Formats: sequence, structure tokens, C-alpha cells
Amino acid sequence: MKESKKLIVANWKMNKNLASAKIFFESFPPSSPAVICPPFTLLEYVSKAYNKLGAQDCSQFSQGAHTGDVSAAMIKDIGCNYVILGHSERRQYHKESTDIIKKKIINAHEAGLIVILCFGESLDTRETKDYKQILCDDVINCVTEATSNANIVFAYEPLWAIGTGKTASPEEIAEVHEFLSEKIVSRFAFLPKILYGGSVNLDNAESILKMKSVGGLLIGGASLDPNTLYKIIKISERENLCS
Ligand code: PGA
Repeated sequence: MKESKKLIVANWKMNKNLASAKIFFESFPPSSPAVICPPFTLLEYVSKAYNKLGAQDCSQFSQGAHTGDVSAAMIKDIGCNYVILGHSERRQYHKESTDIIKKKIINAHEAGLIVILCFGESLDTRETKDYKQILCDDVINCVTEATSNANIVFAYEPLWAIGTGKTASPEEIAEVHEFLSEKIVSRFAFLPKILYGGSVNLDNAESILKMKSVGGLLIGGASLDPNTLYKIIKISERENLCS
């Protein structure tokens, strides 16, 4: 069976303004295969400069009196095909529960968006013997029966690896990816694409991308620089792995 192509996703988080986004696209090829997820304020601009677009969040509500929220349908309307949900920074700083994330996933799917669902353990959880089960239960509780390979991608991001410069080892990544894959196959009958995220950079991208269980990368800090992101995409292409 042909291995599915790897996906590179750039999560700009709360970085860049119009001027710095313009500078980014002066040297970043518009036909690149990476999905770029800028802050909401830049979605319209990036949608004109580039065609693989994602948002970093969407509302748990579909419309109406929800000041400050942006709905999944609005995100789709502005040109996004993807939305990142359940990122640990949303869970930690905005107290997003599994129930809220599940509502967001349902809205995103109704709007026709592909969800990039993040999950990952803290160091404390990692030290418990059933941390993989805890992680997978959390993921499975977010996922609905309407979920399939066509509308969801998972992203394993250990909390202790995000923005810390500390990357999970290939063994640590494989252990979680393989465990979750088996659970999704047996519960939902599809083989999931699972990205890795957490301090990915030019030095470690190749070894992580070469792993069979890794379906691609979710890149934060290193995606802000167009040359670095482009070089990581080139590594994927060299390995003939990138979509
Ligand atoms: P990082 O962020 O690459 O800066 O660690 C990844 C993420 O949080 O998506």
C-alpha cells in the first residue's frame, strides 16, 4: 500500500503583523505545499498571497452573540481549509476542556474544515505508567463518529517539548504515534495521519520526518522564518515525503 504523503503545518501563533507577513511572502514560494496558520488578523492577507491556509482556533459556537469569537464557517469563508484545535496553549491559558474541543471539532467539520487536533502530555503525566492511555482517551473523547481521514489530522505535541528546545526522541514519538494509531483503527476504522510538533527545527526535522509513524510536522517557532520553513519542506521533498 502506498504510504500517505507527509504534511507540514506552520503555526505562527500570536506572531507577525501585515508588514512582517509581506516580508515573509517575498521569499516564500506561493506554491509551497505547507499549510500556513497565521493569526486571525492575517488570514485575509495570507489567503490572497498563498493557497494552503489554516486558522489556529475556531469558536465552539456556530454563530450569534459571542463577542470576540470567530466561527468555523467564517474561517472557511475567508479561505481556510484547515483549523488547529486543542492546542496545549488553548487548553492551558483558555481552560479549553475536552467538551469544548469536541464542540469546536463538530463545528469545524460542519463548515468543511480539516481539523488538526493537538494532544500531548505534561512531564507529570508522562511519569505515570498509563500516560499513553490517558492521552489516547483524551483524543478519542474529542473525536466523533463523523470523523475520518478526510477531515482530521492529529498532532502529537508533548507539552515539555513545545518552545523549549527539547524534542521528543524518535522512540518517545513512535511509542505514542503507534499506540494512538492502533486505538483509532480499532475504534473508528481508519488509519490516522499523526504529525509531530515540539521544538522542530532544521537540525531535527529530517530524522523525525524519516519515521514511518510520523505523518508530518507541526512547526511553531521555526516556521516564522521563510528560509527555515522552506528548507524543512525541501527536506521532506528530498525524502519524497511531502504532499
Ligand atoms: P514550537 O511550537 O515548534 O515552537 O515548539 C510547536 C507548536 O506549539 O505547535
